Amino acid sequence: MPVLDQFSLKGRRAVITGGSRGLGLEMARALGEAGAELIIVGSDAGHLQGATAELATAGLQIHAVQADLSSPAATEALCERLLGDFPPIDILVNNVGGRRINTPTEDLALEDWQRIIDLNLTQVFLCTKKLGGAMLPRGWGRVINIASINALWPGKAMRGRSYETSKAAVAMFTKAVAADWAAHGVTVNCIAPGPFLTDANQRWIRERPEFQAEVAASIPMGRWGDPKEIGALVVYLASEASSYMTGSMLVLDGGKLLW
Ligand SMILES: NC(=O)c1ccc[n+]([C@@H]2O[C@H](COP(=O)([O-])OP(=O)(O)OC[C@H]3O[C@@H](n4cnc5c(N)ncnc54)[C@H](OP(=O)(O)O)[C@@H]3O)[C@@H](O)[C@H]2O)c1
Repeated sequence: MPVLDQFSLKGRRAVITGGSRGLGLEMARALGEAGAELIIVGSDAGHLQGATAELATAGLQIHAVQADLSSPAATEALCERLLGDFPPIDILVNNVGGRRINTPTEDLALEDWQRIIDLNLTQVFLCTKKLGGAMLPRGWGRVINIASINALWPGKAMRGRSYETSKAAVAMFTKAVAADWAAHGVTVNCIAPGPFLTDANQRWIRERPEFQAEVAASIPMGRWGDPKEIGALVVYLASEASSYMTGSMLVLDGGKLLW
């Protein structure tokens, strides 16, 4: 097959959790442009409607499903719904995650720790188990987990450490499940993004404007990532082009981890 044809996703169906904004929206756009039918998941109906209208206007095949993935019970219900309404699912992008608090470890309440672990890790397990597990009998599938460079490196300005801990666990979960499923044609890889200018980071910048220049200065390329710069990598991981890759963590950070 000619090399560019290996990136085609025609006939594939992809679920992107957190596909309504930020990195998830750009990954959905890229997967759709490569030919996949899209199902985006988010917790906010307005954000889902906006993303659906934008991607449909661009000519992409798109469905939206509302669910709160910070709740394990709601995540399980979402998976059952997706398996019932949109079979078969070929590609799963586990993108939902984040933190939104910056409490030092010594003050962090157990409930807050658990909430961050559930948001970043437990739902990745549940979606992989249910949606990835359903790929096994078909002998082909792609699971792509969005970790973070904070799986490898504790952020200097971060506190609480539940985020880094959960992202490191996502990275090891990726490797372990990849090994288990390699013989079944289902690959499991993860992307470790560095700093990207999404809503989540714009919020930190609004609270402390100098944060933007400080981070840019800490990156060898001298700038934050543009969310559009993750699209080609997810298409690679979702397609035949990555047929011999599984259990890998691909760092996408403008060189941030080099210094
Ligand atoms: N941006 C970065 O610099 C960076 C760096 C490293 C890793 N990452 C990782 O990349 C992923 C995406 O980050 P981002 O910056 O694009 O985040 P973002 O701009 O905050 O977008 C998050 C997406 O997830 C959805 N979402 C959030 N909480 C949810 C919940 N409880 N249930 C269902 N959907 C939910 C949001 O939809 P709603 O509108 O409904 O909330 C939105 O579509 C995260 O896992 C993050 O940890 C990001």
